Amino acid sequence: RAMAVFVTRRIPAEGLRVLSEAAGYAPSGVGRRGMRGAGWSPAPLTALSRRCRVQQWDSEEPVPRRELLAGVAGKEGLLCLLSDRIDGEVLDAAGPSLKVISTLSVGFDHLALDEIKKRGIRVGYTPDVLTDATAELTVALLLATCRRLLEAAAEVKTGGWTTWKPLWMCGYGLSGSTVGIIGLGRIGQAVARRLKPFGVKNFLYTGSQPKPESAAEFQAEFVSLTKLAQESDFIVVTCALTPDTQGMCNKNFFSRMKKTSVFINTSRGAVVNQEDLYDALVSGQIAAAGLDVTTPEPLPTDHPLLKLRNCVILPHIGSATYATRSTMAVLAADNLLAGLRGERMPHELLL
Ligand code: GLV
Ligand code: GLV
Repeated sequence: RAMAVFVTRRIPAEGLRVLSEAAGYAPSGVGRRGMRGAGWSPAPLTALSRRCRVQQWDSEEPVPRRELLAGVAGKEGLLCLLSDRIDGEVLDAAGPSLKVISTLSVGFDHLALDEIKKRGIRVGYTPDVLTDATAELTVALLLATCRRLLEAAAEVKTGGWTTWKPLWMCGYGLSGSTVGIIGLGRIGQAVARRLKPFGVKNFLYTGSQPKPESAAEFQAEFVSLTKLAQESDFIVVTCALTPDTQGMCNKNFFSRMKKTSVFINTSRGAVVNQEDLYDALVSGQIAAAGLDVTTPEPLPTDHPLLKLRNCVILPHIGSATYATRSTMAVLAADNLLAGLRGERMPHELLL
């Protein structure tokens, strides 16, 4: 009997594949360990449906909870997105048949890992293949925020541009600055690597432990969160959301930052206490913030943060290049298939 799989979203894989082939290049990470060659494999869902009985929530919109609970029942595999909360209730609804969960994301804070581990379920995810795209977006957001690109472009359209003025639309530049990275993982390192050529003078980092090997390339200094807040001109958050990092960037943290400093988050919204960030931005405690992630997502269009000139908010597009999303989809399908066969997954989360 073919294994049964539930897929929580329409993944227009064929379209993604065609577009990324048209772009003519693949992001780094493609063709590495576990991926099929350097080329593009067939549309991931085609590969899946050749080998499994696939039931899919065939919509651009998130699967309603009710449909998710019904969809997973009796399935061996689940392919989900970061917008699906996979908790004990979902696992109970799936029942003992569920062997593998494959998420189309590097983040796994939406998965109740202790419940998953208790049931002996394996988990696949998509690191590496999105590192470049996410680091690139992080740098773009940092520059857009510190050089006030969105604000300035809006002035051009609304007639605010009257003449060249010495201090008008001034911001803060990277050259000679100190950058603090919270979470010097794959993405954090890729951000530092990209920022170095801008003339950043010092890199500081913090995390659960020092990572001398990762830090060596940037001569990055491991410091406490407090010291990082006090000494950085730019702070970039690229850590995973865990119980330890939840709400870590709070009032106390922002109060130690320089008034001229800029805060960037491309990890998860919940690492930040958003009300405290709002207060810090309004009171001038910090200069500006750029967020690719918020609480909740999407952020309601009347949210107070959206009214601030010194806050740039993007709709969680860190990994959003055609090539990267295509590769993520292939990897998620490969993870799922390998897991269902009882083989080593290209990228398995070790629980
Ligand atoms: C994006 O946020 C991801 O976790 O892949
Ligand atoms: C995420 O993949 C990270 O390690 O930064």
